[in-house]
Amino acid sequence: GAPVEVDISKLEPGQLIRVEWRGKPVWVVNRTPKMLETLKTLDGQLRDPQSAEEQQPGFAQNPHRSIRPEIFLAVGICTHLGCSPSFLKGNFGEKVEGVEDGFFCPCHGSKFDLAGRVFQSVPAPLNLEIPPYMFIDDTTIIVG
Ligand code: FES
Repeated sequence: GAPVEVDISKLEPGQLIRVEWRGKPVWVVNRTPKMLETLKTLDGQLRDPQSAEEQQPGFAQNPHRSIRPEIFLAVGICTHLGCSPSFLKGNFGEKVEGVEDGFFCPCHGSKFDLAGRVFQSVPAPLNLEIPPYMFIDDTTIIVG
């Protein structure tokens, strides 16, 4: 599959856009400072907070799992059986108390934080996959 160019110049803080890459959904999220702060508080609730079990690009080997802290890309496919999780913004607290935002897979209830890290006690075995990507300028990403 060909690389995909993504224009993030209109991506507002807190917003998610979807693009397609190699037939898969890829999410691009502009995380707010508050969202990034929350990521630092979740380690004890996550299965693999450091993503030690994942194959992930070197640039994503950090707590926010991204090149630029605020801009997050992930393959939007649940690591359990391949459904596409929903972005719950402001109402993820119904799934994980005290956490406002995250991804919820409707198929069997897996939960992921805004770095795609899986919460404990759900069926998904791994964190969400991070695709290869790079910035060609401030507002343009090439996925693939
Ligand atoms: Fe997502 Fe089963 S496919 S929880």
